[in-house]
Amino acid sequence: AYVIAEPCVGTKDNSCTEVCPVDCIHPTPDEPDYDAATQLYIDPEECIDCDACVEACPVDAIFAEDQIPDEWSAFVDLNAKYFQNA
Ligand code: SF4
Ligand code: F3S
Repeated sequence: AYVIAEPCVGTKDNSCTEVCPVDCIHPTPDEPDYDAATQLYIDPEECIDCDACVEACPVDAIFAEDQIPDEWSAFVDLNAKYFQNA
């Protein structure tokens, strides 16, 4: 799956949500609207690894799970966590 990392925080450009063919990029369940969300997250169960969102993000916040920089590796679990009870 793909994951969204630190650069999204404070940016939340939302371009990624417009290009995702399966609409799997969301704010958190606790913060259901885009303005309130801290950042957006990708549901790993829904992501089809199409790569479309990577180009769409103006701040390069999105990575394939196995290519995420070490300093942002915690975002793999963060993205997954938000959908476990959703
Ligand atoms: Fe959506 Fe494709 Fe990005 Fe996965 S890789 S979040 S399916 S746009
Ligand atoms: Fe965030 Fe980039 Fe999408 S800033 S909302 S991951 S386009």
